[in-house]
Parts: sequence; structure tokens; C-alpha cells
Amino acid sequence: MSGAAKEAARALTAGRGGGAGAGVGRAYAPANIALVKYWGKRDEALNLPVTDSLSVSLGELGSRVELRRGEGERDRVWLNGAELGAETRFVRRAAAWLDLVRPEGWVFEMRAENTVPTAAGFASSASGFAALAKAADGLFGWGLEAGELSVLARLGSGSAARSLWDGFVRWRAGEREDGMDSRGEPLAERWEELRVGAVTVCGAEKPVGSREGMRRTVETCAFYREWPGVVARDLARLEGAIRARDLQALGETAEGNALAMHALMAATRPAIVYALPGTVEAMRKVWAARAEGVGVWLTMDAGPNVKLLFEAREEQAVRGWFGDSLRVVRPWG
Ligand code: PMV
Repeated sequence: MSGAAKEAARALTAGRGGGAGAGVGRAYAPANIALVKYWGKRDEALNLPVTDSLSVSLGELGSRVELRRGEGERDRVWLNGAELGAETRFVRRAAAWLDLVRPEGWVFEMRAENTVPTAAGFASSASGFAALAKAADGLFGWGLEAGELSVLARLGSGSAARSLWDGFVRWRAGEREDGMDSRGEPLAERWEELRVGAVTVCGAEKPVGSREGMRRTVETCAFYREWPGVVARDLARLEGAIRARDLQALGETAEGNALAMHALMAATRPAIVYALPGTVEAMRKVWAARAEGVGVWLTMDAGPNVKLLFEAREEQAVRGWFGDSLRVVRPWG
């Protein structure tokens, strides 16, 4: 990773803790789904976003990470019990983040368990880097606050800045060049009845990664300049909806924002389309269910899978529409 990222990690961790006193660091972090999306970086090295974004956590869907000092020449990484090859994308990304905090002469052993399908738009990189930052904090005994861990996690993946908390989190874009003010902030509101449904259309790796997709969109989409205005308006609506516990306003805002992001992608050259036939089928099912009076809305990230937003009292009805393909979670665990 870049010198700027290393500098940021050093600024947060230098002089903190007493080395690897704990011997092992263990942590869990929930995945999150943005209701108002992050799409576009103002700084690629530090993953600094063009706009704020606001997410809700996926509770029990997330990542568990165990981190300790290893032996030998190189880092060793296990995912869901199986050791991964050094050349896999997962290991290269993990090792690049570990380089930011690596003491002289160290290699690491990292064991990750994901309860979300990796790289299918379920934001496993968000929970993975948030859990890794927390595990490193445990291992080295830095004693960093969640907001500081959010900055460290962001260096691995932007959306990881929002995975340090349960519930609603607003990621402030910040203004500083070093990104120290670009971090997540939990909202005080709890909305116990809110449910997120995950419809898995396809678990395979996505064709265009979010980094490349964002770069291409910012450079070539003729309407990208409209995006910050869309986000500002949607953030204001969404925060109002959360305060008022107004599911319809929350759903309409989240669904509209996600589709606006996918419209930007479609207007990018070459176009980026993550939807598969099953994605469109799921979208149409949501609209059909709503036409019959079910209070359910959808959102989608950079992948083919669809997430549903509804309240507990609609769970039976939503399950009736989506059957076994649906996984339902509570944002507050
Ligand atoms: O954190 P990244 O680089 O994987 O980007 C995430 C982008 C979206 O999931 C599409 C939107 C978001 O805000 O999470």
C-alpha cells in the first residue's frame, strides 16, 4: 500500500501499546449495507470518499478474525478453515493491510471466518477489514477507540469504516488530506423492528471490483457530477426517516439511492452492470409484493445480490415471496 496509508497507520499507532503482549488478537465485526451509498473516491491511496454515506449493520452476518505472530518467511492466511495461496486476491489484500502495522521482521498468521459470501456484494471486505483492525488492536494492545479503528479499517476497504458498530453508521467524508476526519460515526437511534433480508442470486466473485468501478465511473460517467447532490438530499431524508421510524421514507430513499448508483454505473464507459437475470427477478418480486401491500424495499451494492428492508411484522409475508433464498438479520444483533 502507499506511503500515505502507512503514514496514516503510523500516526494512529506509534507509541501505543506495549507490543504483542496478548499473543493473539480476536475480533468480530458485522458486515454493513449502505442505505445511502459510497461510490467514488477523492483519494485512492487512503480510500477517502467524495461524499458521506450511511449504512445499517447486518448483525450476525460478518467476519471473525484471529491474528497472531507467525513463523517462517511469509504471512499465512486461512479463510473458513482452509489455507489460501499467497497469490489469491484475499491474501494479497490482507497482507497489504498488515504491511501498514507490521513490526520489523514479522510475519502474521491470520484466521478469518466469514458468515457472508465473500466478494458477492455482501460487503465481506467491510466486515473483514474492520475485524482485522480490531484484532490487530487486541494483539498489539494499542487501545484505540472505535473511531480510530474506523480510520485504520478504511485503509483496507472504504466501506469497512462503517463496520465498527451495530446499527446505523454515518461515514463522514471529512475534509483533511490525511483522512483523519474520514471515519464512521454511530447514530444513537435504535430501530429494533427493522430487518434486513439478503437474497443470494450468485455467490461468485464480481466481474469488476469496486475500486476499478468507482474510478471508471468518476472518470467517464457524464452524470457523476450530479451524485453528490443526490447523496446530500438522500442523507437528509434518511436521517429524518430514521428519527421518525418511517419505514416507507427509509425504503424509498434507500431503494432510490441504490438505483441511482446503478444508473451511474450503467452510464459509465465501458458500462458496468452487476445485475444478473435473478437480480432483476428479485427486484420485480419486491415491486409486486409492494403493489399487494407488503412494506418491503430493496437495495443492492456492487454485485448481483439483493437486500430487502422491512419491519419484523412483515417477515412472514416477505418470506412467502422469497422462500428459501432469503436470509433475515437484525441490525442490532
Ligand atoms: O468498500 P468498497 O471499496 O468495497 O466499496 C463499497 C461500495 C458499495 O458497496 C457499492 C457502496 C457502499 O457504500 O458500501
